Amino acid sequence: MAKTVTPYNSEESKKQQVEQMFDNIAPTYDFLNHFLSAGIDRIWRRKAVDSIASIQPKVILDLATGTGDFAVESLRLKPAQVIGGDISDQMMNVGREKAVKLQVADVLSFQRVDSENMPFEDNKFDAITVGFGVRNFEHLEQGLGEMHRVLRPGGRVAILEVAQPEHFPMRQLYHIYFHFILPLVGRLYSKDVRAYTYLPESVSVFPQGGDFTAILERVGFKNAVYRPLTFGICAFYTCEK
Ligand SMILES: C[S@@+](CC[C@H](N)C(=O)[O-])C[C@H]1O[C@@H](n2cnc3c(N)ncnc32)[C@H](O)[C@@H]1O
Repeated sequence: MAKTVTPYNSEESKKQQVEQMFDNIAPTYDFLNHFLSAGIDRIWRRKAVDSIASIQPKVILDLATGTGDFAVESLRLKPAQVIGGDISDQMMNVGREKAVKLQVADVLSFQRVDSENMPFEDNKFDAITVGFGVRNFEHLEQGLGEMHRVLRPGGRVAILEVAQPEHFPMRQLYHIYFHFILPLVGRLYSKDVRAYTYLPESVSVFPQGGDFTAILERVGFKNAVYRPLTFGICAFYTCEK
């Protein structure tokens, strides 16, 4: 079994530590996210939303929504309802303000949702998106199993996750960037020193590529596909129920 990496290595559960960490970094999350990825994260979310467009989803769940960027991107598909669900209220508060500012709060709402025990009936959603969230789940298979339960048959899932490139020279560049530059910038701009060292540590123990698609299929999803994006820095997964 993979080693469990937690934000603060404290006595609290991984979930409590993750919630606390994202509450701490919420005010600077959007700025640092776009800055540290040089804006490429927007392209990744756009691609992921394109992958669910063909089923014309009307009801979408953006799980681990954080500040709601993935949820906002999905509005392009003109759904009737998008729910952004997360365990960090501070992250969602940033998302709520964004929804009001963009005048989309009638379609996009935020609610406290723990991936491992979701407050939704079976088969509720046409599509589910998760951006950079699954790595933070305390019990990965339980969270993915819940996603399968609340997705309708024929529904689609799009998952983005930070990944470690496999080949030279991206693998070496990734190492320098994620282990030295990112923690330094994170320390300067974010209130949480641990958050940006937790990131590469958690990526290093998280199942990637075929290992992750095997888990998706084990919990019941079909046609799980892995696509590396931007030289393998980002892993993009799709699957269906
Ligand atoms: C890196 S942020 C990603 C935010 C957003 N999806 C994006 O694309 O930028 C990860 C989010 O996952 C949330 N999260 C972690 N564990 C969760 C769980 N068990 N259930 C719901 N959300 C969770 C965190 O609170 C955090 O807001």
